[in-house]
Order: sequence, then C-alpha cells, then structure tokens
Amino acid sequence: MSIQIVKSIREMQDIAERFRCEGKIIAVVPTMGYLHQGHASLIKIARLHADVVITTIFVNPTQFAPNEDYKSYPRDLDHDKTVAIDAGADIIFFPDVSEMYSKEFSSIVEVEGASKILEGSFRPTHFQGVTTVVAKIFHITKPHIAVFGQKDAQQAFIVQKIVKDLNFGIKIIIAPIVREEDGLALSSRNIYLNDTDRKNALVLYRSLQYAAKRIQEGARNVTDIRIEMEKIIKGGNPSQIDYIAFVNPEIFKEVEIIEPPVVLVALAVRFGTTRLIDNLLIRLK
Ligand code: PAF
Repeated sequence: MSIQIVKSIREMQDIAERFRCEGKIIAVVPTMGYLHQGHASLIKIARLHADVVITTIFVNPTQFAPNEDYKSYPRDLDHDKTVAIDAGADIIFFPDVSEMYSKEFSSIVEVEGASKILEGSFRPTHFQGVTTVVAKIFHITKPHIAVFGQKDAQQAFIVQKIVKDLNFGIKIIIAPIVREEDGLALSSRNIYLNDTDRKNALVLYRSLQYAAKRIQEGARNVTDIRIEMEKIIKGGNPSQIDYIAFVNPEIFKEVEIIEPPVVLVALAVRFGTTRLIDNLLIRLK
C-alpha cells in the first residue's frame, strides 16, 4: 500500500480545494512525525468522521527554544508512512522548513493568558510557534475537522481558542491519551529515556491516579494533594519537577480549591534531560 506525499503548499491547497468542491469532508491530524500509536489513534478518529484524512508531518522549528531538541527531534518518514497507512490516512503533507517559512516570514498568531502559564512559563515562545503553524496548516489543508490529543492538554485548549476567536469554522476533536500497558503516556520523546528513567517515569501516572483518588474521596484543597504527588514523583528520581498544576479546563486557569464539574491535573517532569508531560481530567462525583 502507498500513500500520497505532498510537499508543496500550493499543491496541498489545490488538492484540498478539489475535495471541497466535490463535497468531501476533510479531516487533518497535525503532527511532528515519529508517529506512535497515540498519533494512530488520532488518525483513526479522523477516519471515522471524514472522507479524506490528511496527516501533516512537520517538525516546526518556531515552537522550539534555542536550547531545546529541535535538531535531535526523532524523524523517520518511512516508519511514519507505515503508521499513517495502517491507521487510515490518505495523504501526508510533508513540507520543508523553507516551504513553510520564507525568509520574509514575520506573522504571529498568539493567544494571550492561557499560553503564558504552565508550559508557557517554562517555554515562553512555544505556543506562539504552535498557534502560528497550526493556523498555517489549517489554511493549507482546508479541513472541516481537526484532531488533536489530550496529551497536550494546554495545546488542545489553545488551538480551540484560536479556532473560536479567529472563526476558522473547523470542528476540533480532542482524542484521549493513549498509554502503554504500565501507564506511561505515549510520546515521541519517550525514545530518549534510558531503561532506568523509563521505569522511573511510571511515577507520573501513579501520582495522577493518586490525585484522582484523593479528589474522588472529597479532597478539594490542592496544596496537600500536590505535596503528596511531589513525594510520589520524587520516588522516581526525576532531575526536575517543572510543575504540578490543578486547572479549570473550561478557562485554562490554575485553581487552589477544586470545584465541580471537572479539574485537570497536569504536570511536567524531567528525567535526566528528557522532559515529559502528562495529565488527567478528573470529573467530580
Ligand atoms: O502536537 C504537535 O505535534 C505539534 O505541536 C503540532 C500541533 C503538530 C504543531 O507543530
């Protein structure tokens, strides 16, 4: 089996426009490649809702800070083709950096507020890179539907915000986190973990489950829960805990007292030089 690879923006726009004229529903799954079963689940969901499924593979330089892993970010197009085909994608949009960003490029799409906290406070220019490239991807692939993962909960909120604020007219579907059997959330960056850190990283999901249990038992003050989560995570010998946050997911603001109907517990933790994020949406009983 093969899949159509499109590298030119103009060609991708023409293809998308033709499908739209034929009345076909287009879904896009934006990715940075090195596809795993988490990405496959997004493509499978897109497949259920659309006639044409485009996945984009573009390691977007503008969402990485100079000290981050842009250069070493894993890339493997042959592997990605196999995963994309198996999951049911029709087209891979795979542009070069020079195709996406001309020398004169100078526009930015930015969401105030939500993009400055949690991930934004550790990666100040990250979301501006994400929202700008996602806006470009939407204009290039002209989708009716786009699928993003709950794994990047803050990104999911921010993408929904630009779609609403800027009237993109695209339905956004947020797909659940896919985990390994032992609970580790799938991520392209898991490949950086050595065996010891891979085992130690299980404390992340364990700490989230602990939070869920406490909240379901009635705990509402985040301070005590955070202290206990920190103890659990420190048991896995992390090099740094960037944050453990309790967030009202409707408005993406941190809370000190948990209120119904739902709270998002989100964290970012480093093992060695590998930075992992994870989260759990907890619906209050
Ligand atoms: O989630 C990702 O892989 C990226 O942030 C995205 C949405 C493809 C934008 O580069």
